[in-house]
Amino acid sequence: MQIHEQIAALRADLRRERAAERRIAFVPTMGNLHAGHLQLMRAARDHAQVVVSSIFVNRLQFGPNEDFDRYPRTFQDDCAGLSEAGVDYLLAPDERELYPSPQSYYVLPDPAQGDILEGKFRPGFFRGVATVVAKLFNIVQPDVALFGKKDYQQLMVIRNMVRELALPIDIIGADTVRAEDGLALSSRNGYLSATERGEASRLYATLLRTAQEIELGNRQFEALEAAAMADLAAAGWKPQYIAIRRRLDLQSPAHGDTALVILAAAFLGSTRLIDNLEVSGTK
Ligand code: PAF
Repeated sequence: MQIHEQIAALRADLRRERAAERRIAFVPTMGNLHAGHLQLMRAARDHAQVVVSSIFVNRLQFGPNEDFDRYPRTFQDDCAGLSEAGVDYLLAPDERELYPSPQSYYVLPDPAQGDILEGKFRPGFFRGVATVVAKLFNIVQPDVALFGKKDYQQLMVIRNMVRELALPIDIIGADTVRAEDGLALSSRNGYLSATERGEASRLYATLLRTAQEIELGNRQFEALEAAAMADLAAAGWKPQYIAIRRRLDLQSPAHGDTALVILAAAFLGSTRLIDNLEVSGTK
C-alpha cells in the first residue's frame, strides 16, 4: 500500500491508474478502523481495480464540545489493517495539507436533510461532512465510493450531494457490521467501560423490538418512538431520538410509505451511540 501525505503525490499516482483505464473505488475514514471499515475496503475491490482510502480526523464536522481532541488516532494499526484488506493507496494528510487556509467555502446540505436527527443534535455536522467529502472526492476523483449504513443520514446526505452537484461517482451503502451481541461496530465503542459495553447491545435490541411491532402492522409511530425512548431511559440511557422515518429522505412516513428505517441516538454514560435498522412497514 502506498501511503501519501501529500495530495499532489496521490493525484500523480491516480492519474497513471486512470490512464491505464483502471476503475477507482474510494473509502474515506477518520481512522481508528474496525472490522466494519475493513469490510468496506474489501467490498470496494468488487467495484474497482484500484482501492483508495483516506484517514483524516475532520475538525470541521466536530462541535466545540465534542470529542475531536480525544478521537482515537491509531495510525500504525490502521495501516496494517488497510494493507491486509488490500487497499492500494492511502491518503493521510495533516490539517495544513487538507485545509491550507481556513475553509471559507462549504457544501451546505438542505436543512430538511442536514438539520434533522443527527444534524439537530450536532449542528454543523453535515456541513463539515459534506465539505470534506466533496473535497476528498475532488482529490481522488473516484468512480465509486463506499459508505457504511451505520451512518444512515450521512449516506443520504452524500448521495444527494453527488446527485445534485452532478458528480460522476456511484455511491454504495454497505450493511452495518455488528458484534455478536448486536452492537453496531463504531470507533466510539472504545470509549465504553466494561459495564457499559455489557449494556450497549440494548440499543439494537430496542430497534429490533420496534421493528417487530412495525412488521406486525403497528403504524402508531409516535407511540412506538416514545415507548422505545422510555425503555432506554428506564435502563439508564439518555436517548436523544428514536425516529421512524421513510428511507428515501428521512422524513416522517406518509400514509402508505412502507420502506422505513428506525434511527436512534442515545448516550450511555458519556458515550454517544447511534444505530439504525431498515424495516418494511405494512400499508
Ligand atoms: O464516516 C466518517 O468516518 C466520516 O464522517 C467521513 C465520511 C470520513 C468524513 O469525515
